[in-house]
Amino acid sequence: MAEQKATNVHWHEGDITREHREKLLGHKGATLWFTGLSGSGKSTVAVELEGTLHEMGIVSYRLDGDNVRMGINKNLGFSAEDRTENIRRIGEVAKLFVDSGVIALSSFISPYKADRDQVRALHEAAGMDFIEIFVDCSLEAAESRDPKGLYKKARAGEIKNFTGIDDPYEAPFKPEVHLHSDQQTLEDEVAAILSVLRERGIIAQ
Ligand code: ADX
Repeated sequence: MAEQKATNVHWHEGDITREHREKLLGHKGATLWFTGLSGSGKSTVAVELEGTLHEMGIVSYRLDGDNVRMGINKNLGFSAEDRTENIRRIGEVAKLFVDSGVIALSSFISPYKADRDQVRALHEAAGMDFIEIFVDCSLEAAESRDPKGLYKKARAGEIKNFTGIDDPYEAPFKPEVHLHSDQQTLEDEVAAILSVLRERGIIAQ
């Protein structure tokens, strides 16, 4: 848990609440947290889902590991400590999106269970939906895809602490959605997520 450094700071409440914004948008805000190995297909499903939601008139926004690491988190690397800080910051950013009434689609390896649970706790304490989506894919399948050529470099020892090679990945025990990206079609994956969004009353259609 990050320490609160600033003192003498006070929360300033506005007049327009999350409920007002959700009413305006016609759906609830929520965080969909995609976790899985590099190359498991997290970003691919998130992009497909974003397109489908957009066509349905639902506002979502993708927060993607590689993209975020070129901006707000450009000062973080891949040590356990930096990964924890990466996830903590994005958890807070996702929460802001939920408060704005938007569905945040966060795709990060997020290899540590404790870090993901921390983000879940943060959302639940604020009465916000947090839906963990495990993009399950065997290391063999992710490595054979190797879309960025990083597994090859990690095997050659050119990248250290690469998740799945010489760094751990802790799979979720009870994710809200468990996808098998090495066995399912993209359409089936999107359909599975949409049905959970409907069940939870986040979207109506
Ligand atoms: S996380 O572990 O902190 O959640 P994040 O999802 O932000 O990781 O970034 C992972 C992406 O960074 C990978 O998809 C890959 O493109 C790149 N990357 C570079 N070095 C590593 C590494 N050592 N381990 C994992 N991914 C890495």
